[in-house]
Amino acid sequence: MIKLAVVGAGHWGPNLINNLYTHKDAWISWVADANPSRLATVAERFPGVQTTDDAAAAIGAEDTDAVLIATPTNTHYLFAKQALEAGKHVLVEKPLAATVEEAEALCKLAAEVGRILMVGHIFVYNEASRKAKEYISEGDLGRVYYISMERTNLGPIRVDVNAAWDLAAHDISLASYWLNADPITASAVGGAWINRGVEDAVFATLRYPGDVLVHLHASWLNPKKSRGITVVGERRMLTFDDINMNEPIRVYDKKVRDERTDVPFVDTFASYRMSVRDGDIVIPKVQMGEPLKAEINHFLECIENNSRPLSAGPEGLAVVKTLDAITRSLAEGGREVQV
Ligand SMILES: NC(=O)c1ccc[n+]([C@@H]2O[C@H](COP(=O)([O-])OP(=O)(O)OC[C@H]3O[C@@H](n4cnc5c(N)ncnc54)[C@H](O)[C@@H]3O)[C@@H](O)[C@H]2O)c1
Repeated sequence: MIKLAVVGAGHWGPNLINNLYTHKDAWISWVADANPSRLATVAERFPGVQTTDDAAAAIGAEDTDAVLIATPTNTHYLFAKQALEAGKHVLVEKPLAATVEEAEALCKLAAEVGRILMVGHIFVYNEASRKAKEYISEGDLGRVYYISMERTNLGPIRVDVNAAWDLAAHDISLASYWLNADPITASAVGGAWINRGVEDAVFATLRYPGDVLVHLHASWLNPKKSRGITVVGERRMLTFDDINMNEPIRVYDKKVRDERTDVPFVDTFASYRMSVRDGDIVIPKVQMGEPLKAEINHFLECIENNSRPLSAGPEGLAVVKTLDAITRSLAEGGREVQV
């Protein structure tokens, strides 16, 4: 039995608690939250779970082996640091930390104390995104030209971080997982209408190695909940819709090519020969599991086997560096900056 403390029981924390509550290999030592009404809700929904408003005490408790952190981003560093210093393993929600310096310090500390530092990049544990990765990495789509990612909804509105840090953190981790690379540059514009200085909508473009463009639209100020992702490749195209539980992926046999040579680019002298291929649409079967359950199981396995998580500190740091570049570009009116 691995004994875990959950810090933060707001919107997301109860999902973690719910997974651990009936887990055969885990036991919840403490749930900590600064808000007493959140603790009361936890006590009602999960009878028998010990609650406290003192996060440091829950983290440092003798009966805590590992800590799950689901508090606002600007508190991740403090709690993850406390946990690692106390010799506990840590699973921290995305993004790993609020600054590059903090994320670097956590990676260094985890290595020094020899404890697991994992980041909740949930799409790495999502069966549909794993299936999409197979299509991308096995060359089915051919060379990837660009990926467009939309993550919108009306709320929840954050005050500690902007829409990119809150929402696009998922998309950056996913794009990097799919492309097996980190972005080189970022450019972004955004608008802050609700809270001064906190962008409600961010439109960012990342340039990955191999001239792959990734466009992000992250907004909590939108009438529509959308999780639409499109991958445009040289040979085929793919869409991933995380909201569509039954058929999240479609692969389109669509491309532009030279009719005679089948090459996918325009020779200016023979451009009249270009045609579009509009073939079948394939909906691959995806065994949908529960991504959060898979993420938590992976964390427990890594603790048990002392193995490196798929989304460890360095992956978390890479996302934070990209978000930092987006922030710098926002401040410079959209200039393309180095990640
Ligand atoms: N993986 C996902 O899909 C996913 C989805 C939603 C949120 N998240 C992440 O989970 C984290 C929490 O998000 P949320 O939506 O639950 O936020 P939230 O604001 O609803 O909840 C945060 C909770 O932390 C508590 N808290 C704040 N400061 C504290 C402190 N100093 N000590 C103890 N408790 C404190 C608050 O009282 C609140 O109950 C964020 O990092 C967010 O990015 C991840």
